[in-house]
Amino acid sequence: MNMVDIILKKKAGQPLTKEEISFFARGAADGSIPDYQLSALLMAISLKGMTAEETASLTMDMMHSGGVVDLSAIDGVCVDKHSTGGVGDTTTLVLVPLAAACGAKVAKLSGRGLGHTGGTLDKLESIPGCSVEESEEAFIEQVQKIGCAVIGQTKDLCPADKALYALRDVTGTVNSIPLIASSIVSKKLASGAGAIVLDVKTGSGALMQTLDESIALAKAMVDIGTQAGKPILALVTGMDQPLGTHVGNALEVKEAIDILSGRTGGDLLAVSLELGSRMLVAAGIACDVEDGKKRMREALESGAGLRKLREMIAAQGGDARVCDDLAYLPHAAYKIAVPSVKDGYVSHMNTTDIGYIAQDLGAGRKTKADAIDPAVGLVMDVRLGAKVKKGDSLATLYINKPELAQSAIARMQEAISISDEKPELPPLVYASVSPEGIIRSI
Ligand code: URA
Ligand code: CA
Repeated sequence: MNMVDIILKKKAGQPLTKEEISFFARGAADGSIPDYQLSALLMAISLKGMTAEETASLTMDMMHSGGVVDLSAIDGVCVDKHSTGGVGDTTTLVLVPLAAACGAKVAKLSGRGLGHTGGTLDKLESIPGCSVEESEEAFIEQVQKIGCAVIGQTKDLCPADKALYALRDVTGTVNSIPLIASSIVSKKLASGAGAIVLDVKTGSGALMQTLDESIALAKAMVDIGTQAGKPILALVTGMDQPLGTHVGNALEVKEAIDILSGRTGGDLLAVSLELGSRMLVAAGIACDVEDGKKRMREALESGAGLRKLREMIAAQGGDARVCDDLAYLPHAAYKIAVPSVKDGYVSHMNTTDIGYIAQDLGAGRKTKADAIDPAVGLVMDVRLGAKVKKGDSLATLYINKPELAQSAIARMQEAISISDEKPELPPLVYASVSPEGIIRSI
């Protein structure tokens, strides 16, 4: 097979055969196709698209390009949740302990921060001693014993995706529905989950910023999962502002602990309950979403969720005292307010920029080799629709390098729009997408 012919065929907008797709997925995994040809094909795919059949073929080839985790030793259905990525998106640390406290088995392989979005592994590592590396045996044993574990990949999962993702990141081809769908679903299938709940973000901080594109992405992923025989559904949820108020690694752990301790709630808790209740339904624990939410709330109010987080942190070698005393988390040296430049209503946030500002303060990496400062980030003091006066704090920067403050303040003021009119507030859940169909809430 000739890679140039495959590129030309996709450039002309024609569907590729199963064999052609296998050829290039294999070539990406084993390095036999050079990066420039893979990049050219990725650009052609991102411009011309792929049919549902092509996307499903690519997903299965990527899934089988490396090892596959076997979770069959765990009793009951292992349910997994995956988000397409957001800012202040700490749902994993809230819903995994709550769902496990309700009896679900959650064996979760998470990722690191990517671009403007945060990653659960980086957040967990801000807890002193907490490890996100375990052998597959220890991982399975932990899930069997306490009901949950959140770690990084245990073996070489989806090497084809690893190669293609690294190229996409630097060739302007991340933003493509068939490429995102195959990348995410191949990893979920390879990580062995029995049922999958997806959180597809939409809005100014999401990969897909329009609702129609976000629904199309959700549908593409649900279709592939269904074809592969997995129970799967997706919620399309808002990323028009940071989901939680805290952005940054230890700050997001703090917010999750505050929620599980009953000290705060808000949109982060609401979306965690929406997703978690569907995990309980998929695991056969709740009879419907309402029952699932009721069980999750009971686990929250009884403190069972916080106890489960404590157990999980301890099982992964971390200092579980953070759950009782936030002083055990790393703290930034300086707190600096971002004042509003005028009176009015908070009408829009450029959530992607807010994510990048937190990254520049040290909460994320610009290159793979960068070290993260676990303590830094920012806390939003307003949400969309809030009425503010000139000088009121829009957000508070948590920093260790005071010289970064001035430009971060200016960029935050730029990222948060203030208008004279009260804006209409976006919904939290825009749509749900399941094998039965799409239900839009607006
Ligand atoms: N997350 C992934 O794992 N892959 C994508 O393509 C986008 C987000
Ligand atoms: Ca290569």
